[in-house]
This record gives sequence, C-alpha cells and structure tokens, in this order.
Amino acid sequence: MRLSQILFSQGFGARRECEGLILGGQVSLAGAVCDDPFFEVEAEGLSFAVRGELWPYRAKALVLLHKPTGYECSQKPKHHPSVMSLLPMPLRVRGLQPVGRLDEDTTGLLLMTDDGALIHRLTSPKKHVPKVYEIVTIEAVTDRQIDALRFGVILHDDPLPVRAAAVERTGEHALRMTLLEGKYHQVKRMVAAAGNTVQALHRSAYGVLTLPAELAPGQWCWLVGPQAVLGPGLESTDG
Ligand code: URA
Repeated sequence: MRLSQILFSQGFGARRECEGLILGGQVSLAGAVCDDPFFEVEAEGLSFAVRGELWPYRAKALVLLHKPTGYECSQKPKHHPSVMSLLPMPLRVRGLQPVGRLDEDTTGLLLMTDDGALIHRLTSPKKHVPKVYEIVTIEAVTDRQIDALRFGVILHDDPLPVRAAAVERTGEHALRMTLLEGKYHQVKRMVAAAGNTVQALHRSAYGVLTLPAELAPGQWCWLVGPQAVLGPGLESTDG
C-alpha cells in the first residue's frame, strides 16, 4: 500500500493533507523520515510515526476507553462532551463509535471501534456477552434485593423477568452484578425494581476483558481483534 494511502486510511486527513504530511518530512518509518507519498509498504503489522508519535496500522480500530463521569456516549451530546472527544484526532476522523452505551455518570470500561460488524456482534442480544458492574447503592443492600436481582425483576418494557447472570454483595452499600443483555439503563432500573437506588456505577469487565488498573479515567489503549474481548469460548457461540 502507498504510504499516503496508509495515512489516509488511518484518519490523518484528506488525501492531500496526508501527502502534505509526508512531503513535509513529518512521517517516519522505522525511525527514518520517508518523504515519498508513493513509497510502497506492507500495511499489516506496520508502525509509523507522525510528528514523532508512533501509530500502529489497523485495518479496523478497536480501543478500550476508561470512561470518566461527565461524558455522553452519544455522537450528538446534549449536556456534556462526547466520549469521542477523549480520543485523538485520527481515531475521531475514522469515526469510532462506542460499543453500546454507558450513562453520563457511569464510569469504566467502554469499547470503541469503527468496525460496524463487530459492534453488531458484541451488542447482539443473541451473543450474551457478559458485562460486570460495580454498584454503590443509597440504601444498605438486603438479601431480599439480592434474591430479586438473581431470580428476576420486572422492567416496564419487558413482560418477562430480567435477571442478573451473577450478583454478589461486595459491601454494605455495594453490589457486583453481571448482565448478559444491554438494555437501556438496565442496572439502574433493575436495582430500582429490587427496591434500592444506584448512587454510583462502574463497569469493570466486558466479555473476557477487565479494565486495566493502570488505565486512568479518560485514558484509552489499543486492543487487537475481537478475541481480545470475546475470548475463544465466546467467539464460538457466534450467531
Ligand atoms: N446500566 C445502567 O443503568 N447504566 C449504565 O451506564 C450501564 C448499565
């Protein structure tokens, strides 16, 4: 692939802008400046630097963001900035979107990708990708509430009881709950239906992925391929 095409595919602007970056000596390969936009390189496995910053080539981008509070997952946010604004310009240009949504006041693991097929696979109700939430409640958690969440609560948009795949008390006012679906405000509505109120909500795991301890709120890191999220076991249940 031509170097200018690579930059274009990775979100570094219009074709002319990418050529300009290369002609201006801003792009290096293996530590050496390459000022030829037509230079042919193997894209797969390539790393290149733009203005000294190293970028891996990714045909499709998949990143994990530690979502802080105060950001909306919508592309047209109403009251707070969008999570997109936490990503660098090339990833924004590529049009990465959140995989599902976290509320503005929810923190934790948020996947973002420009791979529409992957978003569909991960959010498909058939897929049953587990998501783990750490919940702080206003009232003390009771055994009755734990049982209600485990055996199922009624939410207004579903005639059938919705249950947690796993639920455990982690403190007097704290719960850990694993959900296989991703319904609108599901955790908050389930906890409310069980007779308590969510004060703070954090997603600590998605599929086989857990939020890396070293990733501070607002920071992101690359992931390599859907297996990083689904693992071999979940991968085989595709349908
Ligand atoms: N459930 C909620 O209620 N809110 C979230 O942000 C995620 C799951």
